[in-house]
Amino acid sequence: MKVAVLGAAGGIGQALSLLLKTQLPAGSDLALYDVAPVVPGVAVDLSHIPTAVTVKGYGADDLSAALTGADIVIIPAGMPRKPGMDRADLFNVNAGIIKTLAEGIVANCPKALVGVITNPVNGTVPIVAEVFKKAGTYEANRVFGVTTLDVIRSEAFIAELKGLNVSDVKVPVIGGHSGTTILPLLSQVEGVTFSDDEVASLTPRIQNAGTEVVNAKAGGGSATLSMGAAAARFTLSLVKGLKGESVVDYAYVSVENGDAAYFAHPVRLGKNGVEEILPYGDLSAFEQQAKEDMLATLNKDIQEGIDFING
Ligand SMILES: NC(=O)c1ccc[n+]([C@@H]2O[C@H](COP(=O)([O-])OP(=O)(O)OC[C@H]3O[C@@H](n4cnc5c(N)ncnc54)[C@H](O)[C@@H]3O)[C@@H](O)[C@H]2O)c1
Repeated sequence: MKVAVLGAAGGIGQALSLLLKTQLPAGSDLALYDVAPVVPGVAVDLSHIPTAVTVKGYGADDLSAALTGADIVIIPAGMPRKPGMDRADLFNVNAGIIKTLAEGIVANCPKALVGVITNPVNGTVPIVAEVFKKAGTYEANRVFGVTTLDVIRSEAFIAELKGLNVSDVKVPVIGGHSGTTILPLLSQVEGVTFSDDEVASLTPRIQNAGTEVVNAKAGGGSATLSMGAAAARFTLSLVKGLKGESVVDYAYVSVENGDAAYFAHPVRLGKNGVEEILPYGDLSAFEQQAKEDMLATLNKDIQEGIDFING
């Protein structure tokens, strides 16, 4: 198993790479790519951790070598949010970075599973898909927007609010990955009921949790450690799927005849990435309304990504 992390020297990239060095199956290779000159040092640092995972750093000119033979590519490369910015403000900078990296994947590992962390995920995932389509290498089941941070935040907040053991809390989160497009399905959390007031305050807290971190870091970046943990959890789900285990996780994926062209769903993962897009079940009246209200924003974000490549 070879996993390539693109943007590995950043806040998310380093946290993710640390967790993958300690949690990937024995015998795996971890390829760390970044344009920042510190990346070989990050790889040397991690290589001193005694696990059976080999780590190699690749600098700006070595994208091809980093990607060759990769089974999974995870992308946290790009600019994070500063206070006052929303995820859409990042589009102009990050869209170009994602395009370049997607072209590298086409040239070097077109069969890899690709997990996109770089924001705005609603638009960067369509960029990757459009680059792959242009090259004739697109397979919808291999491209993912990583929305796991919305899931783990929901788990943490609900366990805290209700005094539960967090490992027992499972929360479906569907939709997109910014603001109101993030839709936690609180009505489906097993064994827990929420008052209308709780739903009305918890839903926006989950949707705006990224801003909580951005403001608390006061100009020093956005979520990196929780995102590293989320990305590691998702990457390990992809690994289990590739090894033939049947795993269900949530991700922002291409959906035919769905609510939008891309929508976060529960998906069954396997040897080809998405084996099956699972239905998200019944929505409460609040969730149904929230879903209808967000679709215009989500569709606009998706179109922006498509137009960046084809416009
Ligand atoms: N999906 C999510 O839930 C989620 C959560 C938090 C942050 N993010 C996003 O993740 C991205 C990274 O955040 P961060 O806090 O790690 O930022 P960071 O600035 O700490 O790290 C970004 C890294 O990307 C590298 N980079 C820039 N251009 C590159 C290129 N062309 N190729 C390879 N590497 C390149 C930089 O050198 C840097 O090391 C941001 O876009 C942020 O908005 C996503």
